[in-house]
Amino acid sequence: MDGMGPRSVALFRAPSEKTRNGDVTFPFRQSSDILYLTGFAEPESALVLCPGAAKERAILFVRPRDPERETWEGRRAGPDGACRDFGVDAAYPIQELSTRLPTLLAGVDDLHYSLGLDAELDAQVASLIARMRLAERRMGSPPKRVVDPRCILHELRLRKSPEELEHLARAVAITHEAHVAAMRAAKPGAWEYELEALVNYTFRRHGASGPGYDTIVGSGDNATILHYTENDALLAAGTLVLIDAGAEFQSYTADVTRTFPCGGRFTPPQRRCYEIVLRAQEEAIRMTRPGVTIDDIHERTIEILVEGMLELGLLQGTVKERIADGSYRKYYMHRTSHWLGMDVHDAGAYLTDVGRARPLEEGMVITIEPGLYIPRDDSAAPDDMRGIGIRIEDDVLVTDDGHRNLTASIPKKPDDIEATCRG
Ligand code: GLY
Ligand code: MN
Ligand code: MN
Repeated sequence: MDGMGPRSVALFRAPSEKTRNGDVTFPFRQSSDILYLTGFAEPESALVLCPGAAKERAILFVRPRDPERETWEGRRAGPDGACRDFGVDAAYPIQELSTRLPTLLAGVDDLHYSLGLDAELDAQVASLIARMRLAERRMGSPPKRVVDPRCILHELRLRKSPEELEHLARAVAITHEAHVAAMRAAKPGAWEYELEALVNYTFRRHGASGPGYDTIVGSGDNATILHYTENDALLAAGTLVLIDAGAEFQSYTADVTRTFPCGGRFTPPQRRCYEIVLRAQEEAIRMTRPGVTIDDIHERTIEILVEGMLELGLLQGTVKERIADGSYRKYYMHRTSHWLGMDVHDAGAYLTDVGRARPLEEGMVITIEPGLYIPRDDSAAPDDMRGIGIRIEDDVLVTDDGHRNLTASIPKKPDDIEATCRG
């Protein structure tokens, strides 16, 4: 609210519940913006911030108490509970949002509101502004500008406070348990979904709300599919297993990938490929510090990976040539880093106002996740490397003088991985 100034209002609404099938809905997850600002997790709610108001500067709109509905659907805070427990100055039934909005917006210069996410509310806001234009003398002036919450709120979300880092540390500790448990359980004859169940069980068992995104367990050439989530194949001896899974704790998610051999020993070609990805990943982590950009990290990662692709015989020529013609993208097609926090691909601008990659700052958390994915049907690749998919992903905090790898303790060196798998 300090950043917005007094002649502005911010409006956030919870996403609507989504039908899964019939009358069943997907589990509800509150918008991260509302969670960040209030911790209020119920659906059918909205938050309005009015920095210039004398009394009601933060207002929640929530479902009213309803004993019968609560018997069927679960407890509600109601306006009184919302006011008491979530740090706002006032709370009203959600039905009153549309009737109170005209007064809240009257005479305000800037409306901080994220267009394009909620078509129904977009239309309501647009038609309200149109009505205020026509009836300015009766209703007050409409907002002059609609400002994206990226400008202030998401800049705040991008730099993590000590309390947020504590939640993330807990998410990471739980994620550690789950990855180690999965490595131990990944014997030939197990199913990918058994490992998925074990990972998600381990998350819940330790108090996480669950995975922060769908758990990926890809064995064999399923590991070459970046967001593989079928997880329904049988683990074969001698193949690699890629698990990309992160626990969500207090709304903060870890995002960790480990790749390990089913049966506990890398074959020589698997180990050669693995060591190249690890070399790139370790170098990328080493260079992470304030002032460096995510693009710098990505470019250096690509250099090391392309060097490795030449060593492995996947590509021919020089590093420069293969980077210039982009042919490495056949084996490494995604970016190396993204912001991490309440959303796995967290809020925050990647570019500065002049369109350049922004320098990292203390308190930002990024992933570093190089990979190497050799398609099963790639006749250009050496026989014994086809179908190998590897990704190694850690979560890295930018500190004042460098970085801290939050997920460093999850086994990653080939010998440590083999020991864990056989442990
Ligand atoms: N788990 C999604 C990602 O690594 O970006
Ligand atoms: Mn990631
Ligand atoms: Mn991931």
